[in-house]
Amino acid sequence: MRALPAQGQDWPALKQALLDAKTRDYSWKRGRMAVFFYYLDEALERIQQEAYMTFWTENNLGQRAFPSLAKLEGEVVEMALSLMHAPEGAAGSFTSGGSESIFLAMLAARERAGKARPNIVMPDTAHLTFDRACWYLGIEPRRVKVDHERLSDVAAMAAAVDEGTIALVGSAPNYPFGGVDRIAALGELAEQHGLWLHVDACVGGFLNPFLSKLGVELPEWDFRVPGVTSISADIHKHGMAPKGASLLLVRDAALRQHHRFESSAWARGTYAAYTFQGTRPGGAVAAAWAVMMHLGEAGYLDCARRIMAARATIAAGIAEHAGLEVLPGNHALLVYRSTDPGLPIGRIATALDARGWLVSRQAEPDGIHLHLNPLHAEVAEEYLADLRAAVAEAREGAAPEMAAGRAY
Ligand SMILES: Cc1ncc(COP(=O)(O)O)c(C=O)c1O
Repeated sequence: MRALPAQGQDWPALKQALLDAKTRDYSWKRGRMAVFFYYLDEALERIQQEAYMTFWTENNLGQRAFPSLAKLEGEVVEMALSLMHAPEGAAGSFTSGGSESIFLAMLAARERAGKARPNIVMPDTAHLTFDRACWYLGIEPRRVKVDHERLSDVAAMAAAVDEGTIALVGSAPNYPFGGVDRIAALGELAEQHGLWLHVDACVGGFLNPFLSKLGVELPEWDFRVPGVTSISADIHKHGMAPKGASLLLVRDAALRQHHRFESSAWARGTYAAYTFQGTRPGGAVAAAWAVMMHLGEAGYLDCARRIMAARATIAAGIAEHAGLEVLPGNHALLVYRSTDPGLPIGRIATALDARGWLVSRQAEPDGIHLHLNPLHAEVAEEYLADLRAAVAEAREGAAPEMAAGRAY
């Protein structure tokens, strides 16, 4: 086991050691993965880094000390609320990521309902973070099979609601397939039963509005649907901010009280927080603010355009292969599979991996999952060239099969 060094080491050597440690990592900057990263260009990378460094050590728990951060956080929340058509009186919290935003929403739903044996009802395409939140919070997760379009089956979800139900969930879009659930119908169901409806727009919050502007048809998913209570939207995904930046937005500021902790049960006086984190990095807020202000609507539209261009090129290139099929979709998530038993998708995955692509293996259907971001427009042809080689190799039957479901 490594022990703390007896004497500290110089930074140049440590920096080199850090760079050396990265040499076997997959190259996100060359677009070699379609998961875990979001990248536009070096100009935006510099802005992310410099903005973060401007507040690199400030603690956003201490907003009395740093009114700057309170103001920046407020502006980030307001810009997101306006993007998602929130009504007057709506509010939001800046969190560390989609998981924290979702955990807070589920906590608030549970606290508002105050039921003895709470459950939530969601399509089985909802992110597993909901099950994780349920596990932490003592809530029963009820996953309901999606319909033939792989979208929320609202009638089946209605049948799963009972006296213990505290919330419904819909995704905009879901991560496995990129479909936007039937949020309007879920809103009606939520209103009928007085339930909290959470829309998970961790992926779509900062992309859906711009896809719509490009003419991509998406069903209504945001606060324009009256029954929507809260939305999670990740700035560190298609909001293009560095990691550690998400939002939980609520229709009415009063709802935030349900995920607010406050106590004076120790010697040090009152401690209060809306988030799971105590100490919060000021850099994450500053960088998110700077990225949003720098990109503006025009910049996000450009990101959306590049993603759709990447999707069109890659989907068309995959479809050229007899025996490969791209599942229907119109979002940044793209799934393809093999329809030819002589062309196992697991072998294609192995052959792509050998060429430096980190492959996310979809479990169901047995396939390959891509989460596209702007950089993929530049590497789409390289991907297709390597796919051609991978298909040839897979047909020869030499490569072992990468197991299905291998995503993380
Ligand atoms: C739809 C969706 N919801 C929630 C999450 C969880 O977000 P995070 O990894 O930022 O905690 C993800 C992450 O990929 C996601 O795709």
